Amino acid sequence: MRVLIVYAGRTGTTEKAAHMLADCFDDASLRNLMETDANPDRAYDAVIIGSSVRNGQIEPKIRKWLVKHEAYLAGMRKGVFLCHAFMTDSHQIIEDNFPDAFIKDCEAIDSFGGELNYDRLKLSERMTLRRLVRRHPETRNMVPCLVTDSIMEFAEKMNY
Ligand SMILES: Cc1cc2nc3c(=O)[nH]c(=O)nc-3n(C[C@H](O)[C@H](O)[C@H](O)COP(=O)(O)O)c2cc1C
Repeated sequence: MRVLIVYAGRTGTTEKAAHMLADCFDDASLRNLMETDANPDRAYDAVIIGSSVRNGQIEPKIRKWLVKHEAYLAGMRKGVFLCHAFMTDSHQIIEDNFPDAFIKDCEAIDSFGGELNYDRLKLSERMTLRRLVRRHPETRNMVPCLVTDSIMEFAEKMNY
């Protein structure tokens, strides 16, 4: 199966997840929208879109790409994955960022977890993240990370 993985993130987590996911397929092409555009075509059997989340929102570049390629995506097997730190918010983030019909049309849609990469953030971003961490007591005893099982399960769903 030829898969196109289009992704965008800021501190490396989504990039790492996209590469881990790509390893689950025989033939996957990766496009990082933070560096380049991605022109999809019918040569692909499926498209996977991956985004990091900030303040409950997916990356603007992913949002624009989804709008630009709406017609193409409507006829494709597709999946969406998110990378974000606070897994208790996953359901809400998906609901807030994607139309119902789009979600129902996806073979797989999931959150892969996230990381707190403070060293790659500006001071103001660190402050915001610290505030968010304080609001999520579950992160007191557990450092957020990527969930490998979720990535593999997602790939299995896409491969059926
Ligand atoms: C300014 C800022 C805002 C964030 N907002 C959220 C959020 O609303 N929900 C969440 O679960 N994680 C949030 N995070 C955590 C990131 O989603 C997490 O660090 C993720 O691994 C980043 O992925 P990336 O490295 O691909 O950008 C935020 C991080 C920063 C720096």
